[in-house]
Amino acid sequence: MTAGLVLDARPPTVIVLAAGEGKRMRSSLPKVLHSLLGRTMLGHVLAVVDQALPGARTVVVVGKGADQVSDHVAAVAPAASTVLQAEQLGTGHAVRIALAELPEVAGNVIVLNGDIPLLREATLRSLVAEHDRAGRAGTLLTAEVPDPRGLGRVLRAEDGRVTGIVEERDATPEQRDIREINAGAYVFDAQALRGTLSRISTDNDQGEEYLTDVFSQLIAEGRPVAAHQAGDLTETLGANDRAELAGLRALLRDRVNQAWMCSGVSIIDPATTWIDVTVGLEPDVLVEPNTHLRGTTTVAEGAVVGPDTTVLDGRIGAGAVVVRAHIVNAVVGQRAQVGPFAYLRPGTRLAARAKIGTFVEAKGAEVGEGAKVPHLTYVGDATIGEGTNIGAATVFVNYDGVHKHRTTVGAHARTGADNMFVAPVSIGDGAYTAAGSVITDDVPPGAMAVARGRQRNVEGWVERRRAGTASAEAAKRALTAGDGGGSEARGAGPGVEGASGSGDDGCGPAEVRTEGGPQ
Ligand code: UD1
Ligand code: CA
Repeated sequence: MTAGLVLDARPPTVIVLAAGEGKRMRSSLPKVLHSLLGRTMLGHVLAVVDQALPGARTVVVVGKGADQVSDHVAAVAPAASTVLQAEQLGTGHAVRIALAELPEVAGNVIVLNGDIPLLREATLRSLVAEHDRAGRAGTLLTAEVPDPRGLGRVLRAEDGRVTGIVEERDATPEQRDIREINAGAYVFDAQALRGTLSRISTDNDQGEEYLTDVFSQLIAEGRPVAAHQAGDLTETLGANDRAELAGLRALLRDRVNQAWMCSGVSIIDPATTWIDVTVGLEPDVLVEPNTHLRGTTTVAEGAVVGPDTTVLDGRIGAGAVVVRAHIVNAVVGQRAQVGPFAYLRPGTRLAARAKIGTFVEAKGAEVGEGAKVPHLTYVGDATIGEGTNIGAATVFVNYDGVHKHRTTVGAHARTGADNMFVAPVSIGDGAYTAAGSVITDDVPPGAMAVARGRQRNVEGWVERRRAGTASAEAAKRALTAGDGGGSEARGAGPGVEGASGSGDDGCGPAEVRTEGGPQ
């Protein structure tokens, strides 16, 4: 006992079982690599191990899809190692193989199924603490569930002592009525586990070595074992198929949303808000319905995100407003505005109070403080200076078919509607460009660039070439009615035509009207 306590003070060993194929998933991906809210099932288990048992020596048993699972372990838990179980001969066999690679291990060995992603840190801690306190050879986590189908049932004697675990397929009809199930999380004394595993049989419906049989063995040898009931049965749920996984995902969503609301985040519709466990939110963030915050996304104080928005690996600044947007690996500055209907792709960075408006796509775009790209625009690989306004329906033409090039627009520029900026090109500080321009050459600071065909009106064309049509009749009425008044005068006036003058001086005040277009 005393020796046991000394050993137990050392970091424990954790064995995570992840060698099974998970046939019922009907997937080319190993079951434990299916995800819920930003982590794989296995990733959740490894994360809870890291939180509850920091410094533990963790070994993951891999088998089906071993390379894929091993790569994943290396990525999410680099301190963990893997052991190959080439043939999946049962959970007991998996643990036996792992222990064979750990001959020196003593003290606590914690065994976790790789498919119980909702297990909480506090529960794992108390499972281990209770095991230690009682000085047991084995402790298992159990729960009373409404629907125990498919799970191992916990057998107890009249006086309540645990006498064993029976798998559903090996259970009698009476045993199947038991609603206390084995969760697949255990603590063992290493020596007791090692000795017992070498003696368990394969005399069961599946002909496998069941880890669960260790308990009846230990009991037969008079070693102390017991069950630890989880307070929240959802923590013990496993997922064997995609429908069960969806159920667990919804439970985790509710748990995550609840925690954020308790820490000061407003979530208007928790049922349609999906926040990965890896996301960070500050108080007074407001999340509108149907919003997905994923990966390493962070949202700062007072920002409003949604409705109908996805942010993956994005950073949303304080007080920003993001409406009906899809954002991937982009930064939205403080009090910036995005959407409705905007797509921010990787490398996009909006400075404070910048705006990306409706039907705008941006990629690799640096948008300066207070700069605006309000409507119908593609900003590919561009730097836009502070206070600049980009006209509606602009394309930053970044691709020559082989290479990508950048466009630079200076500060406080005003570019006209329906421009093409054919990169590489730069527009100077304070410059203007005329509506409908295709800008292929640099524009000096303060210049007005006009790059479009001059307008030509062919008078009377419709009456001559479309005689008898409604258009021809309408034109005739207009031309005869007011003695050729209003519309003719409009056609002859400066307006757009004026702006396409020679460029050095010609454009009067009218040209200024042409640059902006819709604001
Ligand atoms: C297991 C338990 C059952 C319990 C349930 C909880 C046994 C015999 N049964 O059943 O009592 O109620 O979990 O969810 O343990 N694995 C390996 N190698 C193998 C077989 C399985 O690594 O040879 C891994 C799987 O990848 C999985 C875990 O062990 O992560 C559990 O295996 P699974 O087949 O899902 O066991 P269940 O039938 O769910
Ligand atoms: Ca299972």
